Amino acid sequence: MTTTIDSFTIVRMTVDWEPDRYERFKAQRAEPFWDLLELVHRGGIDRAVDLGCGTGELTVAAADQLGVGRMTGVDSSPAMLERAARHGRVAVDFVDGDIARWTSDCDHDLVLANAALQWVPDHRGVLERWVAALAPQGQLAVQVPANHDHASHLASVDVAHREPFASSFGGAPPADPVAANVLTPESYATTLYELGLAEPHVRLQVYGHVFDSPADVVEWTRGTSLTRFFKQLPHELHEPFVDAYREELLSRIGTDGPYFYAFKRILIWARKA
Ligand SMILES: C[S@@+](CC[C@H](N)C(=O)[O-])C[C@H]1O[C@@H](n2cnc3c(N)ncnc32)[C@H](O)[C@@H]1O
Repeated sequence: MTTTIDSFTIVRMTVDWEPDRYERFKAQRAEPFWDLLELVHRGGIDRAVDLGCGTGELTVAAADQLGVGRMTGVDSSPAMLERAARHGRVAVDFVDGDIARWTSDCDHDLVLANAALQWVPDHRGVLERWVAALAPQGQLAVQVPANHDHASHLASVDVAHREPFASSFGGAPPADPVAANVLTPESYATTLYELGLAEPHVRLQVYGHVFDSPADVVEWTRGTSLTRFFKQLPHELHEPFVDAYREELLSRIGTDGPYFYAFKRILIWARKA
């Protein structure tokens, strides 16, 4: 039984993360994770992997709730892995790896990935490798955001095309990974069926986050989708970018609070025959 954690012969798609900022909305971000865990059938989960494990807190929670024998969290962000190491304990470990290329040889009872798959392209190819890692009766449980058409995402794309930011991107700002990579719910269901998984359960769910002010949305996206711009912008343009984004966003969603942030996500569960 060998697990392949590839040694990065390709350019990684990941970005620098700030765990503290990401965790500011920890409770809201965890909601779909708990719903995903509800889909997983309990019992007999000896070996499991959490792909794109982030800070590792939810990895440990999954291991505990599901009674996992041995859980490995995989991530490529040094900052996230440093945080995750604090949660390491007997039967849970964390390793550096690229989830786009991760696979294993039919020896996992659970492949879990919460809010991580959207960062990598070619979901059919990636899912094929993840499904190859499942033992008979092994379960796949994946959650991806699907809100690329929300003003919170469209406003940043708009601002990135304006100066003084556009020239830092060589005229081509980094694409929204959700827009570029995430498939439709029906495509995931069809893909999993074609990969031999019976009765895939795939659903689109809207999570409503109530913020005191629409401007709080900026703090949310700063911890996730805006990170791709920060990676390429010079440091002195980070705050001006956030200011321009805030102005554009508020012109689209208004300034009155409270604000109901409707956030679409796709939850995916399937089991190998
Ligand atoms: C939005 S966070 C989710 C973290 C965790 N699953 C959770 O639910 O809190 C996405 C994580 O995926 C990781 N990630 C993104 N692309 C990756 C890749 N190609 N290989 C490994 N990890 C990746 C990031 O470093 C980040 O920690």
